[in-house]
This record gives sequence, C-alpha cells and structure tokens, in this order.
Amino acid sequence: MNQKIRKAVFPVAGLGTRFLPATKASPKEMLPVVDKPLIQYCVEEAVAAGIDTIIFITGRTKNVIMDHFDKAYELENELTTRGKTEILKMVQEMMPPNVSFVFIRQPEALGLGHAVLCAKSVVGDEPFAVILADDLIANRNGDGCITQMVEQYNKHQCSILGVERVNPRETDKYGIVKTKEVSPAVGQVETIIEKPAPEHAPSNLGVVGRYILTPAIFDKIEHTQRGAGGEIQLTDAIAALMSDEQVLAYEFEGKRYDCGSKLGYLQATVEFGLMHEELKGDFLDYLKNLALD
Ligand code: G1P
Repeated sequence: MNQKIRKAVFPVAGLGTRFLPATKASPKEMLPVVDKPLIQYCVEEAVAAGIDTIIFITGRTKNVIMDHFDKAYELENELTTRGKTEILKMVQEMMPPNVSFVFIRQPEALGLGHAVLCAKSVVGDEPFAVILADDLIANRNGDGCITQMVEQYNKHQCSILGVERVNPRETDKYGIVKTKEVSPAVGQVETIIEKPAPEHAPSNLGVVGRYILTPAIFDKIEHTQRGAGGEIQLTDAIAALMSDEQVLAYEFEGKRYDCGSKLGYLQATVEFGLMHEELKGDFLDYLKNLALD
C-alpha cells in the first residue's frame, strides 16, 4: 500500500449532552481550553502530522465550526483598522494555506461507525486518520499523538489504534482491546469490545479518540449491524477488519484529557493554563494562594 496519511475525519455531529446547557446551541467541540476551542487543538495535531485534508462530519448547530476555520473578513478588516497587527497575524495564520476543509452532514446520529462511513467518498482508497475532539492529547516535549501514530503506520502499513491504560472500573466508557506484544508500545489486537462491563473486559487497555484506518474499514462498516447503545459502532467494524488484516494498538506518549467529561475538561483547562506562555506565572500564583486559603 505505502500511501501517505493525508486525510483526517473528525466526527463532530454528537449532541454533547454531558455539557448541557453550555452545548444547547453551540457545539461541544467549540468549548475553549484557555483560548482555543477543543477542535482547533485536534486539527493542529493533525496538520502537524502532515495531514492536509480535514473532513468534518457535522450535524445541526455545528455551522460555527465551519465559520471558525473560514476566513473572517470583517474581523480582519477591523483588526487592520485598529492596527492590531499581531492578533491579525494570529487569526490569518491559524491554518497553513495548503490545508483544506470538507464538511459532510451526517443526516442521523447513528453512531461513530456511521459517522466515519459518511466520509467514504471523500477519503476514497487511502488510509486515513479519525480524531475525536473530546480527547485532548498533549505531549509537551515530543511529537503529537497523530504524528506518532503516522510513524507507526509507516512502519507497519496497517490500521493503528491509539490506546492507553484506563481505570479498570471504567472499561464501560471505552472500546477495550486485548493485545499480543509486538514491541514495547505496540501490540497486535486480538480482541476488541465496545464498552464492556469491568467484569467482562479482556484488559484495561482502552481505545482513545485516535485511529489510523485502512480504507477496507468502509466495507466492514457497511456490513456492521447496530451494536452497543443501538448504534453502528466503529469498534465492531474494526473487529471485523481484524479477520482480514492486522490491526495494531499503540500506547502513545503524552497525556490525554477526557474533555467529554466535566472533570477532564477542568483538568485540561488548569494544566493548559499552567503551560500557557502569557498566563503561567500569574495563574500558578493564583492556584498557590487558592490552595493556601
Ligand atoms: C468512542 C468509541 C470508543 C472509544 C471512545 C474514545 O466512544 O466508541 O470505542 O474508546 O470513543 O473516546 P464515545 O466516547 O464516543 O462514547
């Protein structure tokens, strides 16, 4: 195969019920962590990995994501008039000019597998990435998660799932895999199950929101029946793919924040605040004082 990973699919049609009322009229992917929406961190992670085609699978109330990645003429004029050249530069250079955006409407929320299938005609016959913006992943001193996974893809030429050890009591929140070790951070997936109860989980190795998939996945999704939660699950299609192709699990370097949960989102906000060039000193002082109160 030996094809470059150029495309990333971002399923963003979810309702974001865990963040209501914040997400009643605006998408959860636009929740900011310090000064950037979640979705922008993930798009930047993809672009840093060499991806140049960003495919959003969207639903109702998601148009603002489209606006966010579009040129903002009025804002740029206003900033020019006011002489705010640095902010103007930041807005204009948010994305490199070679990156293009495609928006596909998912007519019904039938699950993650169905969302990925909506990208079939745009992805075509190429391996591609899937990124779930709920999972914010930071690797302070090294490559981003997708860059690491693209490297693994280039080495192994097969589907790669981003995984990490999760709390054994919380296996029912994740796709869980059982693997056979290939090298220290890489394992061949032998079993994958969507959201098993802790007593039925084959391990505590959970799939996070980062995947590299071969195009053979589309045919598998097309033949996947509704599974857990009555949805067409990507996990079930991956299980079917495993009978034809090798699928690997990769324990990435970096820290994941589950921004689909309020606690994870708050943790990301605090830790990104402490990493933020402009804020870190004052914010640390503030937290220290708060802890002393
Ligand atoms: C989805 C997948 C699940 C995966 C998780 C990672 O679940 O179905 O296999 O472990 O993302 O965030 P969701 O969180 O959308 O319910």
